[in-house]
Amino acid sequence: MSRAQRKMDHIQHALTTGQLRQSGFDDIMMVHQSLPNLATTDIQLNTKIGELSLSSPIFINAMTGGGGERTWEINKALAEVAKVCNIGLAVGSQMSAIKDRDEAATYEIVRKTNPNGLIFANLGSEATVDQAKKAVDMLEANAIQIHLNVIQELVMPEGDRDFSGALKRIEEIVHSIHVPVIVKETGFGISRETATKLVDIGVSIIDVSGYGGTNFSKIENERRTQKLEFFNEWGISTAASIAEVKHTVPHTSIIGSGGIQNPMDIAKAITLGASAVGMAGYFLKTYMEEGQETLIQLIQQTHDELRWMMTALGASTIEQLQHVPVVITGQTYHWLTQRRVDCSEFSNRTF
Ligand code: FNR
Repeated sequence: MSRAQRKMDHIQHALTTGQLRQSGFDDIMMVHQSLPNLATTDIQLNTKIGELSLSSPIFINAMTGGGGERTWEINKALAEVAKVCNIGLAVGSQMSAIKDRDEAATYEIVRKTNPNGLIFANLGSEATVDQAKKAVDMLEANAIQIHLNVIQELVMPEGDRDFSGALKRIEEIVHSIHVPVIVKETGFGISRETATKLVDIGVSIIDVSGYGGTNFSKIENERRTQKLEFFNEWGISTAASIAEVKHTVPHTSIIGSGGIQNPMDIAKAITLGASAVGMAGYFLKTYMEEGQETLIQLIQQTHDELRWMMTALGASTIEQLQHVPVVITGQTYHWLTQRRVDCSEFSNRTF
């Protein structure tokens, strides 16, 4: 099967397998404040990840490109949405364009459409420094995401089976490239052990992309005859992963992603320690099924509702939202307690 066909398969199967809604956010309860002393107009949504300034904590996470005309159209539409809503956008893995120059246009359209926007390049951890530089140059990207996708590769019938040397290659990229490097998962979560290894080699932004939203084991299993069902329930939930990584590497910028759909998920991800959130599958579904205008309205409404939620919590900035008290219950409480993260620190803090 060609790489281009595989990209279209991923989109199709992402839409049919959907989002699990098991990212752990139901376990998080925010503490209401009856005297917030704020107006909704006081709320500022701008944030920082590493040295990057974002006008909104929401960005469109990596999805596509490299699948011919249809992926060109999708990337163009997403770039238009990002421009209107003034949010960042990551493209899907650019390896196809590095291997086949004819596919480059399916990514370059993003920069053409949004010349001044915040755009992230994307490659897997098999990438060399040279390939990473090409990916950044292709888009004049503001940062590059390096994705980790061991489970997807294992379930993919034609996937990689050798994951050695990834950390070393990421280290070389971090030290040779002039834009920030974001290391991201693809829906299985980052553990504290992985976070520590990444920070030790100089990574300053981690996207946990946890379990509970788009499930790449399910997507790849759709393409197999003999299914690897056990990987369908594999991974660290987004909520647990954000809190665990924040606890382990408190000075590293964290992006929360994996199953984020609404302002409540966004607010909770931020209270657990994220500085921004990436949304992929839910935005894709909205665009593919309801069109570009509906996606724009959804994002604008999400911004408004996040402002109202922050007002009710008494947090006027994203930084303050990161410090509001939250009570952690259920499976997420048990996970974090077993991993020696003291949940009472979240529930008793002041800001
Ligand atoms: C993805 N994702 C992804 N990630 C990445 O780093 N490079 C890629 O090429 C892709 N490709 C891709 C295609 C499709 C169709 C989807 C839906 C997703 C993963 C994505 O960025 C994100 O990490 C996960 O999807 C989890 O977030 P959501 O979808 O639950 O918001």
